[in-house]
Amino acid sequence: MLSRRQTLAGSAGFLAALATASGNRASASRVEGRVPYGACVNIAPLQDEAEYRAALESYCQQLTPEYGLYWDYLRPTRDQFNFDYGDKVLAFAEANEMLMRGHTLVWYAAMPEWTKQISSAAEAERELAIHIERVVSRYRGKVKTWHVVNEPIEETKGKAPGLRPSIWLRYLGDRYIDTAFRLAHQADPSAELILNDYDIECVGENFAARRQALATLVRDLLGRGVPLHGVGLQGHLRGKYQIDSDGVTGFVAEMKSLGLSVHVTELDVIDADLPPEVSSRDAMVAARAHDFLAAVFAGARPEVIATWGITDRYTWLNNGKSARPDGRPARPLPFDYDYSPTPAFFAERDAIDSRRTAAQPGSDPYAPFNPAGVPHPEQD
Ligand code: XIL
Repeated sequence: MLSRRQTLAGSAGFLAALATASGNRASASRVEGRVPYGACVNIAPLQDEAEYRAALESYCQQLTPEYGLYWDYLRPTRDQFNFDYGDKVLAFAEANEMLMRGHTLVWYAAMPEWTKQISSAAEAERELAIHIERVVSRYRGKVKTWHVVNEPIEETKGKAPGLRPSIWLRYLGDRYIDTAFRLAHQADPSAELILNDYDIECVGENFAARRQALATLVRDLLGRGVPLHGVGLQGHLRGKYQIDSDGVTGFVAEMKSLGLSVHVTELDVIDADLPPEVSSRDAMVAARAHDFLAAVFAGARPEVIATWGITDRYTWLNNGKSARPDGRPARPLPFDYDYSPTPAFFAERDAIDSRRTAAQPGSDPYAPFNPAGVPHPEQD
């Protein structure tokens, strides 16, 4: 079935269709009733590759700069702010009627060297305040959702996870999270402020413990009156583990019952431990994405489904510990290296399309995922 669809959608046809769709700016306005789809954006192909831009223009309603708002990119020195990456993604998003998401204000990783000189609570708080004020103000009214604190839950093996070590935890203690949210709220009172984390989606004690730690953190923050508005499930799914459907659904429902919005912020499937053969690997990747999204939707309607990239050509998963030991390229995303839609594309699209609320009369039910002129792959 999937290979039939793939044949029909064929890569050459898709690429050609994407190219014609690139002049079509209507995708973002055709999302009524449909949870928006988004992807993170790598700046190099955004600037250099027409197919990449066409894929984003054709399919996305939201974009997240992949690494251009990290501290180390933004602030190579203490006094310098380098907004070029964020500004370019924003310009592209605005030209195409898409929203840009802000990722991320506070993270243990991607910190520039100079921050190692920070040596007191006062200095840490001052730098945090300068940073959040400057970055959030620059995009005030434009970036409507900020991933304020990223990955606050510690990685542990066995014991209950606490907060992850960082310079913020070291100097400001566990209230660094409160401080970050309050500063972001001050800088843009209308922005939606979310907490974002990973490894809460799969079956296993470690995942359950992390889910619980995140839920406890959220309740504590709300109890202290922190301006926290939503939770991001990154969704870097681990291909070899099943999705904990009840766990995910329960977590999402609980967040909703606390009055929070729920976001899928960085969906992809780590396929390092999956079989090398492409069609069975792709089928497993699609199954994980399907099960995860079904579990999310069963808990509550998310604000966005965003994948961490749009094409396998630029996935972060070819590097470091997530790379396949056999050296084969990772296939975690909706489009493969050559921009052919993968089974994950259909699983993700169908998960979103099947939860459309009341369709508009006469509207094309596949509009946002169907670039102009491409027959829907299921039609023959
Ligand atoms: C990744 C980026 O994709 C890479 O370009 C970067 O080198 C490392 O980080 N969780 C996150 C993302 O919140 O920011 C990470 O992105 C992936 C894990």
